[in-house]
Amino acid sequence: SPFRHMTTPGGYDMSVAMTNCGNYGWVTDRRGYRYTDRDPITQNCWPEMPNTFYQLAINAAREGGFDQFQPDVCLINRYAVGAKMSLHQDKDETDFAQPIVSLSFGLPAIFQFGGMLRSDTLKKVLLTHGDVVVWGGDSRLVYHGILPIKDGDHRLTGPYRINMTFRKSG
Ligand code: SIN
Ligand code: FE2
Repeated sequence: SPFRHMTTPGGYDMSVAMTNCGNYGWVTDRRGYRYTDRDPITQNCWPEMPNTFYQLAINAAREGGFDQFQPDVCLINRYAVGAKMSLHQDKDETDFAQPIVSLSFGLPAIFQFGGMLRSDTLKKVLLTHGDVVVWGGDSRLVYHGILPIKDGDHRLTGPYRINMTFRKSG
């Protein structure tokens, strides 16, 4: 399942290149945002989530205070220099008692973390290689985004930032 630039329902190509592993994957196209059990490009199931990823995600969730996390999606985002993710809520899942676990690799990024309203004040958090963020409970539906990635060259990822978010889709 290669990285690809998906299209938003509004018809824009996302600057972030995406793929997934796990039983489900997050996709967007002109029909909307959703989780699918097949990669629309390959028509095959998404690649299996490696057990090491799964264990890391549930251990991180536990440390964040969520001990029942059962991720079935690992969305993998690849940001080239200049790529960004606009402010949004993660709300395509059905069980908001399940947290989101995010791992960051490679080039640093500024993560904007707001409130329940798009207009709420944003906190800026620098995410660097190896950082883990867990959000859930009262903050599960907060608006968040990534500011445009600054030019750089990371020893492991070159001119990219890689982010993986673990979710339970259903
Ligand atoms: C996301 O909000 O899905 C991705 C966040 C990130 O790239 O850190
Ligand atoms: Fe998100």
